[in-house]
Amino acid sequence: MIDGADDRLPERIQTPRLLLRRWQHDEASMLDNLVESNVKHLRPWMPWIKFEPQTVSERVTLIETWTREWEDGGDVVLGTFLDGFAIGSCGLHRRVGPGALDIGYWIADDHTRRGFATEATSALTTTAFGVAGIERVEVHTDEANEASAGVPAKLGFRRDRVIQRAPEAPAESGRLIIWTMAKADWR
Ligand SMILES: CC(C)(COP(=O)(O)OP(=O)(O)OC[C@H]1O[C@@H](n2cnc3c(N)ncnc32)[C@H](O)[C@@H]1OP(=O)(O)O)[C@@H](O)C(=O)NCCC(=O)NCCS
Repeated sequence: MIDGADDRLPERIQTPRLLLRRWQHDEASMLDNLVESNVKHLRPWMPWIKFEPQTVSERVTLIETWTREWEDGGDVVLGTFLDGFAIGSCGLHRRVGPGALDIGYWIADDHTRRGFATEATSALTTTAFGVAGIERVEVHTDEANEASAGVPAKLGFRRDRVIQRAPEAPAESGRLIIWTMAKADWR
């Protein structure tokens, strides 16, 4: 982990329609409602959904863990808010080694196909390239997840390679597409 507040990833991003900001510990009930009402939508693709259902107090702990990680210079997990209501979650992760960040996202079922994941990912990419030392941004999508692949494809990410690994969620093929964007190529 990285030392010091200077290494913290951005915690608040305004996009044309969305506010992306860190989940607060008193928003555990909101997160709970959002996840619970989207379990069927998320189960095929999100590895962490296997831990559902979770209690509100477990979600408080989770948000506190995210906060600590962020404070220590690690990943940032951001709620995706539309007109003050949470419609998803996204984040910047330090899982892909030095000089790079990867982006994760999900959007509530009743808000899909309105360009929200693309809008959030575009803003996260711009934000990532504003972080000192970040020269590459990645998005990872399972080959079977056509909806998710549409997001980096639409933003002009390069389909760099496919990695074979064990599937982590029920609908995954195990073939993980690594989409990359170089800082020099970003708009
Ligand atoms: C994948 C997901 C985040 C897409 O969110 P979204 O806000 O609907 O995405 P967008 O509206 O920005 O769509 C961008 C492009 O992706 C593609 N796409 C999105 N949903 C699609 C679908 N259901 N079927 C096929 N293509 C789809 C399209 O090319 C779309 O562009 P278009 O609308 O101009 O045709 C959302 O469906 C979701 O949360 N799914 C469950 C969780 C998940 O898979 N998360 C990602 C894990 S890597």
